[in-house]
Amino acid sequence: MCGIVGYVGPKDAAPILMEGLRRLEYRGYDSAGIALARANRLKLHKSQGKVQALEAILPERPKGHLGIAHTRWATHGEPSDINAHPHADGAGRVAVVHNGIIENAPELKSELEASGVVFTSETDTEVLSHLIARSDGERLEDAVRSALQRIQGAYGIAVIAGDQPDRIIVARNGSPVILGVGDREMFIASDAAALVRHTQQVVYLNDGEVATVTADGFETSTLDAAPVHKTPVEAPAALDDYDKGGHEHFMVKEIAEQPDTVRRMLQGRLDLRFNSAHFGGLNLTARELIDIERIKILGCGSAYIAGCNGAYVIEQLARIPASAEAASEFRYRNPVIEPNTLYIAVSQSGETLDTLMAVEEIKRKGGRVLGIINVVGSTIARACDGGLYLHAGPEIAVVSTKTFTSTLVGFALLGLYFGRIRDLAPTAGETLIRALQALPDQIQEILDDTSAIETAARFCARARDMYFIGRGLGFPVAQEGALKLKEVSYIHAEAYPASELKHGPLALVTPDTPVVAVLPDDALLDKNLSSVAEVHARKGPVIALTHPGVRCEAADHHVIVPKSVPELDPILIGVALQIMAYHCALILERDIDQPRNLAKSVTVE
Ligand code: F6R
Repeated sequence: MCGIVGYVGPKDAAPILMEGLRRLEYRGYDSAGIALARANRLKLHKSQGKVQALEAILPERPKGHLGIAHTRWATHGEPSDINAHPHADGAGRVAVVHNGIIENAPELKSELEASGVVFTSETDTEVLSHLIARSDGERLEDAVRSALQRIQGAYGIAVIAGDQPDRIIVARNGSPVILGVGDREMFIASDAAALVRHTQQVVYLNDGEVATVTADGFETSTLDAAPVHKTPVEAPAALDDYDKGGHEHFMVKEIAEQPDTVRRMLQGRLDLRFNSAHFGGLNLTARELIDIERIKILGCGSAYIAGCNGAYVIEQLARIPASAEAASEFRYRNPVIEPNTLYIAVSQSGETLDTLMAVEEIKRKGGRVLGIINVVGSTIARACDGGLYLHAGPEIAVVSTKTFTSTLVGFALLGLYFGRIRDLAPTAGETLIRALQALPDQIQEILDDTSAIETAARFCARARDMYFIGRGLGFPVAQEGALKLKEVSYIHAEAYPASELKHGPLALVTPDTPVVAVLPDDALLDKNLSSVAEVHARKGPVIALTHPGVRCEAADHHVIVPKSVPELDPILIGVALQIMAYHCALILERDIDQPRNLAKSVTVE
C-alpha cells in the first residue's frame, strides 16, 4: 500500500527520494509524488501511474536538499495527479504525505470550508495540510502536534514547510514510520526497504510519537511534547534482501529461497531431547497451555488459508479443537472471547488492519493472542502477547510464497509442542521432527526439476476458469493454489473440498475447465481418486498433484512431489502449486510481482 520516503542532508534530495520510491513499488500503488524545499519555497510534482511517470515530469535536475515523497494506493478519491500526495495548503507553504485513513476528515473538511478554505483534492490527507498551515504553533513540530490532536484515525505522516527548510516532521499512529541515521544526513521511510541502501542504523517510532528530523539528527517526543529518548538499532535486513539476485521476478526468487527459509524457521526450535519443540517468545507456560480448551486462528488472504491448515494440524497433533476464521469477518461480528481459548494471529507484514483490529478486539475483551508474524517489531507483533517470527526475510512480491510455507512449518512446530504437552507420544514427535528436518532438501528436489509443473502450467495458461480440489488437509493447500493462480495469472480459479464436488460445482466441469486435484498418498486417497474419476467422466482435464507410486488413471498431467508425513505434505504440494501459478503468469506475461489492484500490506479497511 502507500509508501513514504524523506531526506534531509547535504546531497540533492530528488535522486534519493526517487530511488526510495522505486524500492517501495512492491507494496502496490497507483500514483506518486514528491515535494522539495528550496529557497524557502516548496515545489511539488505529482503523477498518476508508476514512479516512471513521475520521473518523466520532473525537471532535469530538481534542486533541494530536503524533501518528502510518496506512493499512493487510492482510498479516498480515484487515482489521479491531483489526489496523489504530497498535499499542500492553499498557500503552498506546507506539504504532507500520509499513510492511513483520517476517519473524521469529513467533519474537519466541513469546518475548514466554512472558514474559507478551498480544497483541491478528494483526499482525507488534505485536511491535515490545512490544519497544520492554520495552526499557531511557531515551529513546524508544534503546528503538526496541534493539528494531530484533532485527528482521529490511523496515520504515518511526514511534513515539510517552505519557511523551515531544515526539518522533516514525522509522526506515527498505527502506520509505520522509520528514521534512518546517516552521517550528517537523515532519511525517513515507512518501510526499511527504502532505507537500507543508505544506512543500517534505524529508529522505529511508536504510536503516539512525533520526531523532528534534521541533517544533524533527530528528536523524538510524544504528541504532548514530552521528550522520548530513542537509540538507533541495526536494520533487520540487508540491501541484498531487496534485490532480485539474478532472478527474473521477486516471486520466483522467493519461491527459490524456501529451502533456506524453512531451515531458518526450524533453527533452534527442535527439541531433540523430548521430541518436542521450543520457542523463545510464546510467553505461555506448559501449565497455562494444559488449560487451553480451544484454539482460534485469525488472518486474511493467504494468512487465513495458512491458519485453516494450522487448525487442522494442531487439532490432529494436540487434540485441541481448533478452527480458523478470516480476521476481516471476525472483527465485525462481536465475537465471544472465551477465557480458555488461545487466539493466534497470522500476518506476514504484521500491518494488515483487519488482523490488527481482530487482535485488539480480543485483547480488549481480555483474551490472549499469539502472533505468527514475519516482520519483526511490526504493529501486530507488538500487539500480541507472544508468538513466533518467521525470519523469512523481506517478502517483496505482492503474493506471499515463502511466508505461507514458513507459517505452515510454524503451525507444525506449535502442533508438535502442544501435542507433546498433551498426548502425542514421543515416537510420534520424533517422526514429525525427522520429517521437518527433511523438508528443506525435499523442497530443493521440487525446485531442481520443474519440468512436469511447467508442462501443466502451459496447459492451464489456456484456460479461462479452473477448479482446485482437495480433501481434509489437502483442501487449504488447494485454496492457496487457487488464490495464487488467480492473483498472478488472472485466471478465474476456485477451490472446493473434493467431497463437495458432486453437491454442485460438478455442474461447471467441462473439457474447458482444468481441475487441479491435490491427491496425497494418505488415508483419503481412494476417496480422492473417486472424485477425480467423476471429473474425468465429465471430460474435465485433470492435473494431479500427487506422490510417487500413486496411479491416477484419470489424470491428464501428473506432478509428483516428494512424500512427507500427512501433516507436512501440504507444504511440499504448496511449493509445486506456487511454481505452477508463477509459470502460468509468465506465459501470460502478467505483472507478476505487482498484480493489478493488489497491495502488499493492506493497511486500510
Ligand atoms: C496472497 C496475499 C494476501 C495476504 C493478505 C494478508 O498472496 O499475499 O492474501 O496474505 O493480504 O497479509 P499479511 O500476511 O501481511 O497480513
